[in-house]
Amino acid sequence: MPFFYGRFPTTRLRRTRRYSWLQEIISETRLSVKDLVWPVFIREASDPKDIKTLPGLQRYTLNELPSVAQKALDLGMAAIALFPYIPFEKRTMDGDLALQDDNLVCQALRLLKSQFPSLGLIADVALDPYTTHGHDGIIRNNHVDNDGSVRILCQQALVQAQAGVDIVAPSDMMDGRIKAIRQTLDKAGFEHVVILSYAAKYASCFYGPFREAVGAPLLPKTLQDKRSYQQNPSNSYEALQEVALDLEEGADLIMVKPGLSYLDVVQRVVETFRIPTFIYQVSGEYSMIKAAALNGWIDEKKAFLETMIAMKRAGAAGIFTYAAPQIAQYLKEEEV
Ligand code: PBG
Repeated sequence: MPFFYGRFPTTRLRRTRRYSWLQEIISETRLSVKDLVWPVFIREASDPKDIKTLPGLQRYTLNELPSVAQKALDLGMAAIALFPYIPFEKRTMDGDLALQDDNLVCQALRLLKSQFPSLGLIADVALDPYTTHGHDGIIRNNHVDNDGSVRILCQQALVQAQAGVDIVAPSDMMDGRIKAIRQTLDKAGFEHVVILSYAAKYASCFYGPFREAVGAPLLPKTLQDKRSYQQNPSNSYEALQEVALDLEEGADLIMVKPGLSYLDVVQRVVETFRIPTFIYQVSGEYSMIKAAALNGWIDEKKAFLETMIAMKRAGAAGIFTYAAPQIAQYLKEEEV
């Protein structure tokens, strides 16, 4: 616990706030472009480019990916994370395309790995872009089946590893998948592939705009409800248990998601486990800032920078944010 010695009027906290240069020296939290991971949506050439729920973002074709990667590197970012938009006619009940080594994500990984070996490549392990129902796993007896889904997710992680992914990021929230994925990767000689586990992923309304970005299935929202596997927003001890299990199963890195509404969870995870923990500033968080800024109600730059600093202050090692290129640019401008 901090112990405070001073008493007013000898102690005046405003004294050191008078000079911005001094504020900079004593700033407890800093943001670096190296903290940022840029989630990038990819598509086939015939699919739509614009994402109406995420102003300023687009889906990129494979042809456009080299310029995306070059931009990430030029801005000093460490890594990008790929999310595919899969045409509806290629989706199936069990998301079979996720296991094909020539799917969009695997093609993108191969291309980027060969042309940009120094850029970190992260890929989501979950079936939602590939299934007709949009769930992260397979459905058996009207329920998202845990163990059957895990077997498939292992194969998805494996084809991504074969295509050159550096970090697989299981975002599906099935029980036991970290252990199973680790074993599958190790057996195939991919013991160096890192696992970033979405250990504490909450069933959040803030994923809304993302669903549009990856093409939400044409089903009623109730059938897309993920509360039988994602966490209840009211629980944080449960998040610690999720993290403990995933670490025990072999997770290298931990993700808490969404970001801003769950900073207490991030802080607890970091203080309890002292493990590199990531935050995902999810689509709804991005869109809220963008929408308010587009209406002239909020300063976009300040809002993004303040949310970033808040996430770092809570203890995040890295931050996934759709605004990564923008924020990287802001940081660059501040250097001069
Ligand atoms: C699904 C997945 C989701 C996001 C990343 N991976 C959505 C969901 O769980 O339905 C959300 C990201 C965002 O909202 O920005 N595997």
